[in-house]
Amino acid sequence: MDVYGVIGNPVGHSLSPLMHQAALDALGIPARYVAFCVQNLTAAVQGIRGLNLRGVSVTLPFKTEVMDLLDGVEAGARAIGAVNTIVNDHGRLTGFNTDGTGLIRDLREVMDIEGRRFAVLGAGGAARAAVFGLVQAGGIPVVLNRTARKGEALAADFGCTFRPLAEAAGVEADCLINTTPVGMAPGDDRSPLPADVPGRFPWVVDIVYTPLRTRFLREAAAAGCRTRSGLGMFIHQGAEQLRIWTGRTAPVDLMRRVVEARLIKAG
Ligand code: ATR
Repeated sequence: MDVYGVIGNPVGHSLSPLMHQAALDALGIPARYVAFCVQNLTAAVQGIRGLNLRGVSVTLPFKTEVMDLLDGVEAGARAIGAVNTIVNDHGRLTGFNTDGTGLIRDLREVMDIEGRRFAVLGAGGAARAAVFGLVQAGGIPVVLNRTARKGEALAADFGCTFRPLAEAAGVEADCLINTTPVGMAPGDDRSPLPADVPGRFPWVVDIVYTPLRTRFLREAAAAGCRTRSGLGMFIHQGAEQLRIWTGRTAPVDLMRRVVEARLIKAG
């Protein structure tokens, strides 16, 4: 029986075990997917080799730090500066990042990306994955961030423009995407932008999926925008992980159903 897992701290609320176990079972792959709460990252990564874990998801706060501990990092993950997926090939560990691909696959379900403008809110690891994915897919990102220095650095790395967060209302774009953690449970009911700003964009996307309806999305919907939660991105980044680990096409509809049911039950 192969073992897969997620490493992070904390991982108690991770939905990856639920999603991946359902997918592995549906594919008939005899494997277990386990959440590991990491106390020592170097020892944990060595443990992947020692215990022959076949594939590992990486979550906060280790997505960047883990890169130096691997034997190789794929070019996209290196450009993003973060790894969310590790493949173990007979003790040789390679890092990938499927977050950008996950976002693009989800957006493609509802919109065209090539030639369209995307206002990307934030400049952390999630924003870097989003901007990388959008540029790869022919989209035109505009980075908006509270701290100008960080936003400018991200924009420069990917050849796009930067605007201060305070100027968000003046940015012309087909879609506004929040990549910051603002509005995520169990934080308070906050939005990264004043309520009158999202209404200026035809599409408003939040990569947060806990809760499914963030204040940001609720205010956007009330202003007449079409909205998308981070659930689809989460499912698609996991589907791409499964493809990398097993070569199989993941049952995305099933994965979405089980995760959505859990999120709705959790309120
Ligand atoms: P991750 O790697 O998950 O993207 P991160 O690297 O901590 O997380 O980045 C979080 C992003 O959310 C940053 O761009 C941060 O803005 P700053 O660069 O100004 O710190 C943004 N962010 C966090 N809290 C915010 C808030 N209250 N308002 C606006 N932006 C916020």
